[in-house]
Amino acid sequence: MDTAKLTLGDKEYELPLIVGSEGETGVDIRKLRGQTGAITLDSGYGNTGSCESAITFIDGEKGILRYRGYPIEELAEHTTFTEICYLLVYGSLPNKKELEQFEHELTHHSLIHEDMKKFFEGYPPNAPPMSVLSTIAASLSAYYPANGDPKELELNIIRLLAKLKTIAAFSFKKSIGQAYIYPRNDLEYAENFLHMMFATPCEDYEVNPIIAKAMDRIFLLHADHEQNASTSTVRLAGSTGANPFACIAAGIAALWGPAHGGANEAVLKMLDEIGDEKNIDKYIKKAKDKDDPFRIMGFGHRVYKNYDPRAKVMQQTCHEVLNELGVEDNPILKMAQRLEKIALEDEYFVEKKLYPNVDFYSGIILDAMGFPTSMFTPIFALARTVGWISQWKEQLSDPKHKIGRPRQLYLGETERAYVDIENR
Ligand code: SDX
Repeated sequence: MDTAKLTLGDKEYELPLIVGSEGETGVDIRKLRGQTGAITLDSGYGNTGSCESAITFIDGEKGILRYRGYPIEELAEHTTFTEICYLLVYGSLPNKKELEQFEHELTHHSLIHEDMKKFFEGYPPNAPPMSVLSTIAASLSAYYPANGDPKELELNIIRLLAKLKTIAAFSFKKSIGQAYIYPRNDLEYAENFLHMMFATPCEDYEVNPIIAKAMDRIFLLHADHEQNASTSTVRLAGSTGANPFACIAAGIAALWGPAHGGANEAVLKMLDEIGDEKNIDKYIKKAKDKDDPFRIMGFGHRVYKNYDPRAKVMQQTCHEVLNELGVEDNPILKMAQRLEKIALEDEYFVEKKLYPNVDFYSGIILDAMGFPTSMFTPIFALARTVGWISQWKEQLSDPKHKIGRPRQLYLGETERAYVDIENR
């Protein structure tokens, strides 16, 4: 089977098939309109491959997620977020020397230009950190050229990975009126971020190693997820040749939505709205009611029709963090576990294959760590920056890549003559 046959009217066409590394089949329709005059329609692109990629593989039916072929469960168990950044950007796990050099680069590029601090002064204290992150990420293009020089391109990737955590931490400190805490060269990525978030100039702040490990794992689990909405946004922006910092800013904007990266914050808000375990049945009923906009946040997925493998690791991390913090009987966690149990046994969720996704537990962990809900999605954005920039780089390195330009089916008025205002 190396072609698909398409009959349109009295004509039959043969469309080539492309088979992926895991045996997925793609019908190549790149010449369809030229051959047939017809296009396909797939609002939301649920059935449409936008690219060929070698970075992340997801099997939604089996609940499989692999970064460059490595199962997420093994990576979460044995590696660090910095190793994953290297893996996603360069395609292989680093050896000791490569990792040391990469860590040195990330550490020594984590400061932002002192003039950039002025940007924060323009924001009111309640400015949503996602809007700050997106705009200041784009502003990095004012400080660092993106002139196509390959060395500059690689350095800008390092700058993005290193500086966004500083920008996120500074935006948090500004919002609570505290002094900025600068990154430290003796701390790893996750530990450095926690230190910048929670230290103050008045006293030494020791990062709890268990919390730092959990933070590192949260970053790792969110690092990439093939062609999700925000990654597709970054690819589309990148296909025009836009500045890499502007492309990442576009990805941050897309991730902000509650149906996507904003779901971790929405889970906490949902649990707060449910308020007590005795109300769970009422809310499950609302979630099943087509006329009710309420949805169980952190449940369901465009691709996973099985347990999101990240959710399982996140659940285990949740227990580790809450035990470490001595809040294992946290009422929010208890309610989330009860909600998960009821939903997984309810035939509506079973029949529609709705399972917990990566966001269901992440908000509970971040809340227990002391993050305000406004910082949940920025943390997702920090992690996903490496996925976005790896996908951006992969697209750019394909000499055959073209500017993205979807078509449409026009359902508007057919041609009609202009009528001037006196006769309307
Ligand atoms: C992320 O794409 C990615 O990879 C994203 C992500 C990543 O790493 O980048 O994984 C991160 O965005 C995870 C998803 C976070 N969002 C949420 O948790 C928000 C709550 N979830 C839903 O809004 C929803 O599940 C979506 C948006 C995630 C998916 O929506 P779809 O595409 O409509 O899901 P579907 O087609 O599989 O839905 C099947 C049915 C529909 O009902 P019918 O039209 O068939 O009657 O299930 C219903 C949906 O209405 N449904 C839900 C539901 N999710 C879907 N009903 C109740 N509660 C839910 N959470």
